[in-house]
Amino acid sequence: MTQLPGLLDTEALRKDFPILDRVLHDGKKLIYLDNAATSQTPRQVIDVLSEYYERHNANVHRGVHVLAEEATALYEGARDKVADFVNAPSRDEVIFTKNASESLNLVANMLGWADEPYRVDSDTEIVITEMEHHSNIVPWQLLSQRTGAKLKWFGLTDDGRLDLSEIDRVITEKTKIVSFVLVSNILGTHNPVEAIVRRAQEVGALVLIDASQAAPHMVLDVQELGADFVAFTGHKMCGPTGIGVLWGRQELLEDLPPFLGGGEMIETVSMSSSTYAPAPHKFEAGTPPIAQAVGLGAAVDYLSAIGMDRIAAHEQAITEYALRRLQEVPDLRIIGPATAEERGAAISFTLGDIHPHDVGQVLDEQGIAVRVGHHCARPVCLRYGIPATTRASFYLYTSPAEVDALVDGLEHVRNFFG
Ligand code: ALA
Repeated sequence: MTQLPGLLDTEALRKDFPILDRVLHDGKKLIYLDNAATSQTPRQVIDVLSEYYERHNANVHRGVHVLAEEATALYEGARDKVADFVNAPSRDEVIFTKNASESLNLVANMLGWADEPYRVDSDTEIVITEMEHHSNIVPWQLLSQRTGAKLKWFGLTDDGRLDLSEIDRVITEKTKIVSFVLVSNILGTHNPVEAIVRRAQEVGALVLIDASQAAPHMVLDVQELGADFVAFTGHKMCGPTGIGVLWGRQELLEDLPPFLGGGEMIETVSMSSSTYAPAPHKFEAGTPPIAQAVGLGAAVDYLSAIGMDRIAAHEQAITEYALRRLQEVPDLRIIGPATAEERGAAISFTLGDIHPHDVGQVLDEQGIAVRVGHHCARPVCLRYGIPATTRASFYLYTSPAEVDALVDGLEHVRNFFG
């Protein structure tokens, strides 16, 4: 068995994930390498979800009965756990949404409706990057179309990094918001936060970081990042689907207007006007994803018990190993940084002229789950002149043997297509 420094005891960890025992097709053991799309769920989280529905299910912040109080305590307890997980200065800075896309859209809409000094209008600029997920492109295109604000972006270097050579021309006095991904879901690139935040602060622009591919994999400290907003999602970090997070600086959340109106986000309502509850409730209209938030709290407990620094070290070792092994496969081209420095655990590649959908299909027949396509980051494919990629993405339970199986699987793909 391949031993690498920094590896977690994956054999022991995998016992927590019942799904990893699945056998597919004609007896092929599941090799799950699609963690950037969604991670698997440990028994510890599944149990908390079952217990919630078996014993505590009720609506939150509304009832005086026992179940309502228990559900409220569990939901708000999950907020405490998430606040600790990201080192938020205050629990009231943690807004629960349904996913990272909703968190990003929420900020775009807050700014669209805001008063000065935050208001985005036709005299202002929005800055994103060419490596964003569609969920951090389309909301800004919509905002730009509605307000007349100019949408600008950082391009990419040939080796899959952000081209910041013109940072002072891209982020200017007109910039209101800079929104960028911390770790790219398609390239794996880990972006240099400090340089971007420093320039944004120089011109008084707000900064939003999409940490969807970072929060599951490394220590995420919102105070250290220095951004104004950070978005991420639960289902990529051992939690359930249907739960996302937006962290925002308290004074901004106090000043900015709500986006969705409805129950529980108000202070008082009359037929002619309403006043709003303080954050985070101002941004959580309607019945929130209660069980999902409780499940995310359990996921955060699970990850924290292992240690995010240990998870990061494990993934660094696996990624380094995978990059080395994949580069042994003839005709394989890595799309993104080819070394493990400043890099996350998602590796995209092309294999000769075999279409990624065919690669994915033949790998699936061997029990190997990867994602193929443009990964909701089509501008990256356009930039590198490819229709799509195959992407293998790793997590805390990925073993070197699974990387070896991927490499063997790719040899099989090559033989299959002659
Ligand atoms: N954003 C997810 C991915 O990259 C769905 O696959």
